[in-house]
Amino acid sequence: MIERCHRSAALLAAAALSSLACRFEPKVPELRYSLNRPAVDKNPDLAGDLGAQAQLEGALELMFGTPAGPRYLAAAEWLEGGFDPNYWGEDHVKADEAGWSALVASNRAAYRQQLAAIRAGEFDALDRPRFADDLWARWQALRADIPAGGPDAEYLTTADGQKVTWREEALFRFENYYPTLANSASFYSNQCYHCHGAEGGGNGSTSSFLEPRPRDYRKGVFKFTALKGKARPRHEDLFRVLTEGIYTTAMPSFRRFTDAQLHGLVDYVRLLAIRGETEGLLVSFYAPEEGLNFDNVRENYDLVVERWREASEFFITYAGEVPEPTSERIAHGRALFTTAGEKGGANCVSCHGPDGRGGGVSAWEPGKEGKEYAKDEWGNQIQPRDLTRGVFRFGRRPIDLFRRIYAGINGTPMPEHFGMTISENGAQRTLNESDLWDLVFFVRTLSTHSAVASHDGGHEREAK
Ligand code: HEC
Ligand code: HEC
Repeated sequence: MIERCHRSAALLAAAALSSLACRFEPKVPELRYSLNRPAVDKNPDLAGDLGAQAQLEGALELMFGTPAGPRYLAAAEWLEGGFDPNYWGEDHVKADEAGWSALVASNRAAYRQQLAAIRAGEFDALDRPRFADDLWARWQALRADIPAGGPDAEYLTTADGQKVTWREEALFRFENYYPTLANSASFYSNQCYHCHGAEGGGNGSTSSFLEPRPRDYRKGVFKFTALKGKARPRHEDLFRVLTEGIYTTAMPSFRRFTDAQLHGLVDYVRLLAIRGETEGLLVSFYAPEEGLNFDNVRENYDLVVERWREASEFFITYAGEVPEPTSERIAHGRALFTTAGEKGGANCVSCHGPDGRGGGVSAWEPGKEGKEYAKDEWGNQIQPRDLTRGVFRFGRRPIDLFRRIYAGINGTPMPEHFGMTISENGAQRTLNESDLWDLVFFVRTLSTHSAVASHDGGHEREAK
């Protein structure tokens, strides 16, 4: 029987981890991920022990594969519970009816030529799709397998008992194409590598010229999400970053690619991030008396995967109607913004300055050569945004700014504000949703209308 989805690919069960010898043996010499050198060098026990480093590399390769063959080690209990990290994105998008039908529509548009040729029976005329070697290989295998009765002969039966002809199956494969991790990895090395680097360390060859620097995914810290509590990003958050880009930074929009390709990139970014975070934990806790043992490795791996699985629980929702931006609300937002913390205000002024231009006292810290901007999570100086420019990197819809002010910007000095203690009319209380809207409305008045309008980009699009 022919299987429609290719899930039989070797999935190593957790038991395979019982020996930490590298069991993943590539057939040809291939590119490996490198260890995070600066992190390794911070742990003197590991930095001086090449044997332990090799063991660590082996363990990581066992869990995450190589750049040419990336994959997750799937624990038996995950598979039993219906979670297979190797199909994380595909399963996630399939579960969202609107998301999957958008993917199919986007595949139909991208593979119009191939679909028409299959319908017309002109199998030699199919163009090879760009950046989809896995799809091409599946097509070629299918082509070599036309039943004796011809393309319209019955070819397979689906799980729910539907009979499918060869031609229907060929059309299905193009319309429902979702890239493998390996294919997305090679697409990544084509489109992202020169900025984000092979391991997602944000250290590609062009990275040092950029300000802000490309993200180092290995901390699991992502700035632009719709989440609170410094949660890991959801699939939707990363997908949005890829479609929109990050306005006024080097991070471009990849909207010209298909939905399937973008979902695949999300999957691969997540794999690199999880790999990097797991590595970070193993490196920082490595001690020679403990070594790298099975429990230790598994525990850290599970912990990191779990953080990513629970991300959507941190989604910031707003149930009510968005209030009207009345002049009272704007005035209240201004008061919250410009009142210092010691006077009980929301204290935006400390970084963004009284005029919102980004020159507040806390924007700076003493540095080697005098005053420098405070540092972000990655150790780079970062300037509080000049809010008069109307540049909002993750959308300027009221709900986008609401979430931004609510949760802050992960990895930067901009803190979470929801629930912070303020004092008003002599009484202490915490910053609530109504206050956040007032801040949103005030922030929007700081930039002139024309500046805002010209910086709209695609951000007004409905986004989840
Ligand atoms: C020309 C350089 C460049 C290229 C090419 C590039 N990026 Fe980026 N990327 C950046 C920069 C710079 C940032 C950081 C922006 C910031 O901090 O505001 C970034 C940030 C990101 C983030 C983090 C978003 C967040 O919320 O923190 C993700 C995810 C990302 N890029 C993925 C990708 C992927 C996937 C590709 C390839 C399809 C790619 N990037 C290509 C420069 C680049
Ligand atoms: C401790 C410093 C600090 C404080 C306090 C602070 N911010 Fe920020 N804010 C920043 C920094 C730094 C950035 C730029 C982050 C980046 O570009 O990655 C920023 C960016 C922003 C942005 C741009 C968001 C986007 O999508 O690009 C908005 C809006 C904003 N801040 C509003 C506020 C408001 C409102 C307050 C008070 C409730 C506030 N900030 C308090 C440091 C701060």
